[in-house]
Amino acid sequence: MSDGCDTHGSDATHGSDDTDDTFELRDGQVTLRTVTADHVPRLRDILATPEVRGRWGDEAASAQWPFDDPSSVRFAVMTRDHPDGDAEAEAEQIVGMIQYGEEDEPAYRHASIDIFLDPSAHGQHIGRDAVRALARHLMEDRGRHRLVSGLAADNTAALRC
Ligand SMILES: CC(C)(COP(=O)(O)OP(=O)(O)OC[C@H]1O[C@@H](n2cnc3c(N)ncnc32)[C@H](O)[C@@H]1OP(=O)(O)O)[C@@H](O)C(=O)NCCC(=O)NCCS
Repeated sequence: MSDGCDTHGSDATHGSDDTDDTFELRDGQVTLRTVTADHVPRLRDILATPEVRGRWGDEAASAQWPFDDPSSVRFAVMTRDHPDGDAEAEAEQIVGMIQYGEEDEPAYRHASIDIFLDPSAHGQHIGRDAVRALARHLMEDRGRHRLVSGLAADNTAALRC
């Protein structure tokens, strides 16, 4: 895992648990879906962009990534596209990934969040919506009261999510 992303949860919607081990969370313009093999090529492409690689390093070095770390719960960040402005014909696109890890040692109990988005999606409050959805899930559904950060001090956009 790389840099953490500090979070302050607010008004995301609750998650829905599907029957096939997948999970979905929504807030604002984003839907978070449990990462599946179908998401991996796109996520690897996003990780390879200089902007994301500069923060996450060689995250996907393992051939098993993103299924190589059972301590991290990972979601693809999806947004809805309206081809030709047609709201009826919505198509989902993958714009990044967000993950959490949990520490259960009673004295240090907390959860941490990390996120990356495709550079073409930056600055549209997608990061804010994704962090809010996950923070609320952690606080309201998983009873977490403490979310921690491992952010670089110069990462203004992530600090403000
Ligand atoms: C960090 C990251 C997830 C932020 O996502 P984003 O969708 O671009 O951010 P948002 O549009 O939601 O902006 C969140 C806040 O940061 C501000 N912000 C966005 N980009 C900024 C920038 N380059 N400089 C300063 N502030 C910025 C926004 O104005 C917003 O503040 P506001 O709510 O007060 O208006 C995204 O930039 C990213 O993936 N970066 C590369 C990977 C990374 O750094 N991950 C974080 C480590 S875990």
